[in-house]
Amino acid sequence: MSSESVQCRLLRSLCIFFLLLIGATDAAITVYQANNQAAFTTAPGAKYTGVAAYNPTSLSPPPVPSPTMLTTIPITLQNSGTPNLSIKQKGSFIGFSIEMSVTNQVLGKNSTLIQVPFLNLMANIQQRAGSVMIRVGGNTQESAKLVDDGVIPDGRVLTKNLTGVTGTTQTPPLEFSRDLLYMMRNISSFVNVHWFLGIPWFVTQPFDTKIITASQEILGDYLLGLQAGNEPDMYHIHGHRNDSYSPFDYGGEFSDLLTQVAANGADPSGKAMSILVGPNIADFSWTPEQVWDSGFVDKFGPNLAYLAVEKYPRDNCAAMFGGPNAVVTDPQTVLPLYLTHDAHTGLLAPYLNSTMYAQTVNKPFLMFETNTASCGGFLGISDSFVAALWGLDYALQMAHSNFSGAMFHLGGQNVFYNPFTSPPTNQSTFHQWTVGGLYYSALVMAEAIGPSNQTQVLNIGVPGLTSYTPIYGIYENGTPVRVAVFNYVDDPSGANDVHAVISISGATTPSSVKVKYLAATTVVQKGGYTWAGQTFGKNFESDGRPMGDEDIKTVNCDTTAQTCTVDVPAPGFALVFLTDDAFTENKGAPTMTFPTTAHTKTHNTATVDPSVLSTSNGFRMSGNELAGTSKPPSAAPRSAQASLIAVGVVIGAVVAMLGRVL
Ligand SMILES: *[C@@H]1O[C@H](CO)[C@@H](O)[C@H](O)[C@H]1NC(C)=O
Ligand SMILES: *[C@@H]1O[C@H](CO)[C@@H](O)[C@H](O)[C@H]1NC(C)=O
Ligand SMILES: *[C@@H]1O[C@H](CO)[C@@H](O)[C@H](O)[C@H]1NC(C)=O
Ligand SMILES: *[C@@H]1O[C@H](CO)[C@@H](O)[C@H](O)[C@H]1NC(C)=O
Ligand SMILES: *[C@@H]1O[C@H](CO)[C@@H](O)[C@H](O)[C@H]1NC(C)=O
Ligand SMILES: *[C@@H]1O[C@H](CO)[C@@H](O)[C@H](O)[C@H]1NC(C)=O
Ligand SMILES: *[C@@H]1O[C@H](CO)[C@@H](O)[C@H](O)[C@H]1NC(C)=O
Repeated sequence: MSSESVQCRLLRSLCIFFLLLIGATDAAITVYQANNQAAFTTAPGAKYTGVAAYNPTSLSPPPVPSPTMLTTIPITLQNSGTPNLSIKQKGSFIGFSIEMSVTNQVLGKNSTLIQVPFLNLMANIQQRAGSVMIRVGGNTQESAKLVDDGVIPDGRVLTKNLTGVTGTTQTPPLEFSRDLLYMMRNISSFVNVHWFLGIPWFVTQPFDTKIITASQEILGDYLLGLQAGNEPDMYHIHGHRNDSYSPFDYGGEFSDLLTQVAANGADPSGKAMSILVGPNIADFSWTPEQVWDSGFVDKFGPNLAYLAVEKYPRDNCAAMFGGPNAVVTDPQTVLPLYLTHDAHTGLLAPYLNSTMYAQTVNKPFLMFETNTASCGGFLGISDSFVAALWGLDYALQMAHSNFSGAMFHLGGQNVFYNPFTSPPTNQSTFHQWTVGGLYYSALVMAEAIGPSNQTQVLNIGVPGLTSYTPIYGIYENGTPVRVAVFNYVDDPSGANDVHAVISISGATTPSSVKVKYLAATTVVQKGGYTWAGQTFGKNFESDGRPMGDEDIKTVNCDTTAQTCTVDVPAPGFALVFLTDDAFTENKGAPTMTFPTTAHTKTHNTATVDPSVLSTSNGFRMSGNELAGTSKPPSAAPRSAQASLIAVGVVIGAVVAMLGRVL
């Protein structure tokens, strides 16, 4: 009996489903769903007609730098007294911003059907950082309406009202139920996720304050903050305010909110009105200074828990949404702009005055929403290894620049830039999740900073250093503990590999250091990147747990020269652990337990054993794997998993078989 027919016997109904699909499609190229959306391509080079999130098209790597760059880089650290270190940072520095309208794809269907791959992805970060920040919002928060229980049918938590679609991003008005908030609260009892939400701000007379009351009541201490308006400096572009709308007017609305909430009792404990987040400007038509100078923080200091901005380096709106004068940006042309450290220093320079100001008023300053490009990102950039390197350098540069955190935005199936993407609902029984480069950035950042809350970051200048090889020192209590070294260049010849020659004045040179690499063969690679040898695979291959054996390199130091030389391939990134403590520091972190069961599929509802959720600590020397329950890559059997995962793997095999047949 062939293995195909064994699988078909195991999953008879699924095979029938597949045969129907094949019958109904242009079998040579793409498998289509009933809704006529391409699910995945099967023939290399075939024209892709499916959704953006799985588009396999890649770009060409940019040429190597000419003239040559500095490749042997002396990195001289001081054991104490290093000036200009950043403020103290948290391991949860990078969080995620989930467009409200896709929470039902990403978080779960409702409070009783939570996506286990999502929990695993968050657990990986929690193990390194202690907690995870997630903002639920975006353009869709502005017209979101909390409706009574039972209004939305079929146990769903949200629905889109397609009769009122407006704006550049064509975001439909949303209706959501309290169960969305219960789902978020239930997630926080599995993994230590803390949340941001937003108050709808398009209509201020009166404000719809329902979310204020409900989010406080349901999320309690898991509610970090409530956004007061999303990109108010862009409201006039889409006709939500007139052209004269100014920071002063925004402040007036903020004041109206406080008055209305006091009058209608929407914040009985008074806490919600002390955790507001503003001004959340896109730096489009107002500068942050214009907002500070309008007296915003002076007036509303007690109400503000965070100051925040939102910024994308550029946009891909013309390609995504067209328009009469739309000039579409060619991704190949802008690719080199994502492979240089200057991109980040340029983007962040306008905020340095504000992060200093934020320190004087004692408020953390967040990059509330960001990604490679607004309106979905760029094909070949946002969904390749480019994004992983870009996102990690960006994260470290923001930490260096005294931001206190940043959230990478994710949308639905129709964008390129998702840190992670759930399969289309129709395919969730036979496809797993797709993990993008920015998730790796977040994971590595969590590990680079760690859980101590004492970590400081410094972008290190070296004479002659080019913008292709940024270097960061990472300090605990003023002492260097880790070093981050990037190589943005794509050169398989080895001629542009970096040799980072690290020395620490005022300390004994260790006999060896440990190194973890973030790696891919080329910057334009799509999926299958590795962090210390482990991967989340390619499209549709991840259940949220890292696959493969962890591979940590030991580099011997030259105790005579008092240097440790770490090589970083072109392209690549290395995190160098200078001491064993830097490697094991979160050993004391409590082991996570998941006291109850979670379900994810709408079809084939399966009970998931809590042990499916990984339970080890990322830094640990003992049990070196990233995740204790991590299993070999999909080539090896992963049979003894919870039923849900087992179903996914067997079904994956059926898909692979069909791929060969087609
Ligand atoms: C960050 O803040 C620290 C402490 O105020 C300061 O010394 C440092 O220069 C700041 N860094 C930047 C890039 O502004
Ligand atoms: C969640 O959805 C499932 C499946 O549709 C349904 O059985 C369940 O009652 C829903 N849960 C809630 C809290 O609505
Ligand atoms: C959908 O939106 C339209 C326009 O805003 C509104 O008139 C209608 O009542 C909404 N429908 C529902 C079911 O809420
Ligand atoms: C999730 O939320 C529901 C409310 O719909 C609650 O009844 C249930 O106990 C929660 N489950 C967990 C695991 O917390
Ligand atoms: C920095 O910000 C403060 C507060 O808004 C402002 O008064 C000052 O002019 C700004 N400095 C620069 C150089 O922009
Ligand atoms: C796929 O989704 C579409 C639209 O969401 C739905 O109409 C269709 O019935 C689904 N097909 C399957 C096989 O579930
Ligand atoms: C770090 O800060 C968080 C709160 O922001 C706290 O829960 C955690 O216990 C702190 N960790 C350490 C090691 O102090």
